[in-house]
Amino acid sequence: MGAVRFSGVNSNIAVIQLGRPIEGSFAVVQPPPPSGGAEWRIESSTEGWRVVREGVEIFWFSVNEETRPITFRQKLELGDKVYGFGEKYARLNRRYKRFNMWNVDQPYNQPSGDPTYASIPLYIVFSAKRCFGVYFDYAGYIGFDTDIERVGEVNVKVDSEGVRVYVLWGETIKDVVASIYSLFGRFTLPPKWALGYHQCRYSYMSQEEVLKVASTIRSRGIPCDAIWLDIDYMDGYADFTWCVDRFPSPKRMIEELHTMGFRLVTIVDVGLPRREGYHPYHLLAEADGFMEDENGEPFLGVVWPGVCVFPDFVRSEVRARWARLISDWLAQGVDGVWLDMNEPSIFLQVAKASRELKRLCEHSANTEQPALTLRSLPRLSTVGLDKTERMVPIDAIHTNDSGERVAHSVIHNAYSLLEAWATHDGFKLLNPEGRWFILTRAGFPGIQRYAALWTGDNQADWGQLEMSVPQLLTLSMCGLPFVGADVGGFGDDADPELMIRWTQLGAFYPFFRNHSSRYSNRREPWVFGEAYERCIRDAVKLRYRFLPQLYALFKRAAEGGEPVIRPLVYEFPEDEATWDIDSEFLVGSNLLVAPVTQPGLRARAVYLPSGSKWLDYWSHRVHSGGGWVLADAPLERIPIFIRENTGVVVSEAQHINTQNSKPVIEAYVEAEARVELYDDDGSTLAYKRGEYFQLDAHFVKHENTLSIITKKLNTGYKPSYTSVGIRLLGREAIENLNLGTIPVEAQTFEYTLNVDIDG
Ligand code: NOJ
Repeated sequence: MGAVRFSGVNSNIAVIQLGRPIEGSFAVVQPPPPSGGAEWRIESSTEGWRVVREGVEIFWFSVNEETRPITFRQKLELGDKVYGFGEKYARLNRRYKRFNMWNVDQPYNQPSGDPTYASIPLYIVFSAKRCFGVYFDYAGYIGFDTDIERVGEVNVKVDSEGVRVYVLWGETIKDVVASIYSLFGRFTLPPKWALGYHQCRYSYMSQEEVLKVASTIRSRGIPCDAIWLDIDYMDGYADFTWCVDRFPSPKRMIEELHTMGFRLVTIVDVGLPRREGYHPYHLLAEADGFMEDENGEPFLGVVWPGVCVFPDFVRSEVRARWARLISDWLAQGVDGVWLDMNEPSIFLQVAKASRELKRLCEHSANTEQPALTLRSLPRLSTVGLDKTERMVPIDAIHTNDSGERVAHSVIHNAYSLLEAWATHDGFKLLNPEGRWFILTRAGFPGIQRYAALWTGDNQADWGQLEMSVPQLLTLSMCGLPFVGADVGGFGDDADPELMIRWTQLGAFYPFFRNHSSRYSNRREPWVFGEAYERCIRDAVKLRYRFLPQLYALFKRAAEGGEPVIRPLVYEFPEDEATWDIDSEFLVGSNLLVAPVTQPGLRARAVYLPSGSKWLDYWSHRVHSGGGWVLADAPLERIPIFIRENTGVVVSEAQHINTQNSKPVIEAYVEAEARVELYDDDGSTLAYKRGEYFQLDAHFVKHENTLSIITKKLNTGYKPSYTSVGIRLLGREAIENLNLGTIPVEAQTFEYTLNVDIDG
């Protein structure tokens, strides 16, 4: 048994160094600040080690550092739940599973589909007795199995000579998650419009079609903030170009979209065509800025445009050049960037292609059809990753800032993180004070500093709708608060009922986008006819209704390290019944959402956590917690419940710019509640300097008298509304309303409280 190096970093975090010490980290930007206090120790025990904090054993592990892969085994107890591993297609409790960490294109999200696009080598062990997280800080291959190979153990295989393992301790899951959020660096508030509804399609084929979709959205009264362009806007699928035949005047198109209140997001693929006269290629080539093959030549892979080269984002010079390309692109008025195929994923390695195929690749740069159609991915296993044709080989070479050559095998999972970083730098170059919006498919811990993430190519399938909930809840617990899945399912054909139910659920995804493949039926909200359109429109409106609440939660994610959406167990760990539940979830701490995930259902069972009462948002019926209730779920409605003695802030708007309508605080008060309203300019970083508005509404109910005391906690930003509404949820009448000197117009259960914003 080698000498394991161990150190406590702060009260809640300790580090175990296995094997050769490794410098630097992609995910952990700076070691967490010491906050003193707890004493950490590692004690050797039979065949392994005990991690001890404040004299109490946290867990037992054994390690073999002499072999490659390094193997790490951590003992599980009978009652332990295992959460984590990011977007994997699995239920919330991930005990008895195997997961490979190696970013790949994984079309169809099939249940057996592992690995996936994003790798988050992190898990949380939780039981009534203990709670801790374990993070393996390595961007190469890691394999996990949770209680499969050896009964009662998590088995980890790290394909490296060394790895730093972070142990994150907490009294509760909340503490562990807060440590995760602080370890990977804070997330910055996105522009407010990015929280709205996004309309996408692979692809809107022309400027005319884009404007038609946009004006139809407005004329049909569907709230929406962004229209997206997939690869067909480009000339020969080359990034930073327009297909002039079909998009003859992008500037005018963008102006018209902006006038209608839309933002425009365009896809940017990571492979650049190796094409004479193509400026982005030359700009990076001048700096030898591409990943190389074993002969020191740019590595060539085939993607949509044909033969492509791949930026070597490991080097700061390459990131700076990419940032210039992004900034010039945005300068045309483009508002957001969608990073795709960035695992990086390729259709085949040119070096391995037949002559005939190579010729086809060279000539496939037309704008009508993809260069090659997707074939199913070869199965991956630890051995032979480099043998698969659909990915960059592990012996491709990166060159770092010190001129050292580094194998792709140790960079692979962090490649998209580096790309997102460079893309973010492009936004900053154009507007240092502005917020940015980037969406990424591939990911690694820390990518949340730069980008939102979606779960890739799912299918129009009820099972996939259902599984998106544990996928997104887990990403959220792993430090990524801004996440979503394609609403409607990317592949296959959706029927109207699936579309309605998915839009109702998507309204509560942190990132909410309707997207579909060119091989699938159209999915714009009106395509299924008016009766269905009404339900879909109402679901999108529900999103905008809760937008002020979501925005406040995003602020908490940015500053306090709390996820926007949370599994029940995160808020109610003492209620054992919640530990495996992932068919419903919480938005913040108090809004329980129970999506319908099967066709034909018009009611569903909902578990209401113990310790408080819950109010059905639609009927205002109150239920006590600690049991299952049958909630009505007619096609036009998703079951929602509000926790006793809490509230939410709601509003009505068509897009973010009309968000100026007066917010309304809705509260369900049995005794005492506090509701917080948060607002800021929605587009700059001024909020970080205190330029925001924050109001605390304090409700106290005593018998039939309700007092409401509002207090402005921060007035660094002046919202355009001057009053805030109050709506009391519930069926009980309030006889006396005590609002001190604040003028009130009383209606039944609805009051308008004029808050003087300037005062
Ligand atoms: C793969 C992405 O996952 C999908 O969303 C996109 O539409 C296609 N690439 C085409 O760009």
